[in-house]
Amino acid sequence: MIKSSEEEKKMTSGIISTRIQTGFTLWFTGLSGAGKSTIANILEKKIKDLGLKIEILDGDIVRTHLSKGLGFSKEDRDTNIRRIGYVASLLSRNGVIVITAAISPYRSIRDEVREMHENFIEVYAKCPLEVAEQRDVKGLYKKARAGEIPQFTGISDPYEEPHSPEIIVETNKETPEGSADKILRWLKENGFIEG
Ligand SMILES: Nc1ncnc2c1ncn2[C@@H]1O[C@H](COP(=O)(O)OP(=O)(O)O)[C@@H](O)[C@H]1O
Ligand SMILES: [Mg+2]
Repeated sequence: MIKSSEEEKKMTSGIISTRIQTGFTLWFTGLSGAGKSTIANILEKKIKDLGLKIEILDGDIVRTHLSKGLGFSKEDRDTNIRRIGYVASLLSRNGVIVITAAISPYRSIRDEVREMHENFIEVYAKCPLEVAEQRDVKGLYKKARAGEIPQFTGISDPYEEPHSPEIIVETNKETPEGSADKILRWLKENGFIEG
């Protein structure tokens, strides 16, 4: 449900009209290598092309500034997700479309950040561990298997699947473009963007 106003504001002159953009957060969750960043980047371009304001909070990038120094213990992971959730809530309540792309492995924290939002859409980037591991985009699975990275999600740390995400993209069966289009279609069908 969209809770924020979507009315058109007409300037007194009657010449300029500004459409108020509805802010929302698309919260990706899924294993490393599931395709969160890839799909987020494709979606960003498609949404920008519609002339809408959008910001990506990618887990890997956030960890270089907002969450610099945090590790991968449950406590640090939770802190990282709370920070991303907080910033996403600030932006989205001011009309920005936010896409977050962090593993966010724990269900309870995802539910906690959902509660901070007016408009929260959970997108499960679903991909079997074997497929993500075979992709091994960053060579991290290999290192994790070799014991060089402790607490690696899916190998030596838990990943809790969402129970009822708004959208599921099955990245071992869909193309990245197809997954992005599926999300865009959902956003249009549910009135979050015009189309
Ligand atoms: N349907 C798909 N959706 C997203 N990525 C896919 C898909 N099929 C194959 N891939 C590939 O899988 C990898 C996903 O990596 P990435 O987006 O960095 O994952 P994450 O951000 O979830 O860790 C990329 O190399 C991408 O090209
Ligand atoms: Mg990523």
